[in-house]
Amino acid sequence: MIPQAKIRGGLRILAAACAVAAGVVLGGLAAAPEPFDWRLPPGVAPPPVPADNPMSAAKVELGRRLFYDADLSIDGAISCATCHEQHHGFTDSNRTRPGVHGTPGRRNIMSLAGVGYLSPLTWADPRAATLEQQMLIPVLGESPVEMGMKGQEAELARRLAKDACYRRMFAEAFPDDRGEIGMATVAKALAAFQRTMLAFDTPYDRSRAGDWSGMDAAAQYGWALFNSERLKCATCHSGPAFSDSAYHALAGQAAADDTGLAEISGRAGDLARFRTPGLRNVAVSGPYLHDGAADTLAAAIRRHFAATDPNAPTAAEITDLSAFLRSLTDAGFLKDPRFALPQTACGEPL
Ligand code: HEC
Ligand code: HEC
Repeated sequence: MIPQAKIRGGLRILAAACAVAAGVVLGGLAAAPEPFDWRLPPGVAPPPVPADNPMSAAKVELGRRLFYDADLSIDGAISCATCHEQHHGFTDSNRTRPGVHGTPGRRNIMSLAGVGYLSPLTWADPRAATLEQQMLIPVLGESPVEMGMKGQEAELARRLAKDACYRRMFAEAFPDDRGEIGMATVAKALAAFQRTMLAFDTPYDRSRAGDWSGMDAAAQYGWALFNSERLKCATCHSGPAFSDSAYHALAGQAAADDTGLAEISGRAGDLARFRTPGLRNVAVSGPYLHDGAADTLAAAIRRHFAATDPNAPTAAEITDLSAFLRSLTDAGFLKDPRFALPQTACGEPL
């Protein structure tokens, strides 16, 4: 005969085992990441995502709020969006722009449409391999100072943690990190938001799908020139964001005080080499080139060629190339509320 106490104990163990099993199943379900809806046209692959920063709607929403939050700068005056303005394709219309306390900018602000496809990031810093790493440059960087938070990482966490809604948003975005608020989670959320900046609803992309109504003759001829053996634009401006993510020195570059990649690599061969910029929304993201010295698409194209280059495009060809570049504008992207300053957070107006 089995003593009562032992049966009860056994049942208790059984019940506990069931609860554990149920917990494993439920936990397993909760942990399985929901497939992220990239809202991409058919045939377009989403940008690569690091294994330790999977996409989620909660993370993207948090990243968007952070992108527009001036608390990320030392004096509370500058957010990412101050320099990266949506209606300019997430750049601004200045050659350079100062950071906090009026510290002058050095290089032209880069646009962010399709930035998730690019690595390394920025004009000439190969250390910024991922969006998670790149974000430390504006926030903590000292040459130039942009947001001025160097040494103030704890202060940033303190500012954000003061806000009950931020605490909730971090908890929802980072359940595995117990909602930790710190530079690492801020960087991950900002990166996830920027990976959603996709701008494929353009006359050019529609023409790929067989609808040529948005591409006039000039744009079509420009597309042919862009791919031509003579001009070779597409060898460097390749891939979904029209960049090979490699460094090149342009033949028509003005004698520069900016040494480009050589500044970091120390190699003479890297002098004035800059990473090929993406071209999506390029028509609204001027002025152009790393120094912002080209005010028009035509001027930017001319700077690719030495004055004596017999293969340089003629004025008429530059007009057609520019028409093609204008067909890379996604007008909806420039005012899509999913990328705009959020109006609410946690159901309350901000
Ligand atoms: C003061 C203006 C300013 C602020 C503020 C700023 N940026 Fe930038 N951003 C720039 C400039 C200038 C560059 C190009 C820098 C370089 O290459 O030297 C750039 C480059 C980038 C790039 C690289 C794009 C590419 O094609 O490689 C990304 C991504 C980016 N910024 C994201 C951010 C994020 C996220 C924030 C907020 C945390 C931010 N930026 C804040 C001016 C700014
Ligand atoms: C050898 C590689 C290469 C080729 C070929 C090339 N580009 Fe570029 N392109 C670059 C690089 C690198 C930059 C940035 C240079 C800088 O800032 O100094 C650039 C910049 C640009 C810009 C300015 C974008 C911005 O946001 O500032 C435009 C527009 C452009 N290229 C269009 C073209 C066209 C059109 C062609 C063909 C006529 C072409 N490119 C051929 C590498 C290339």
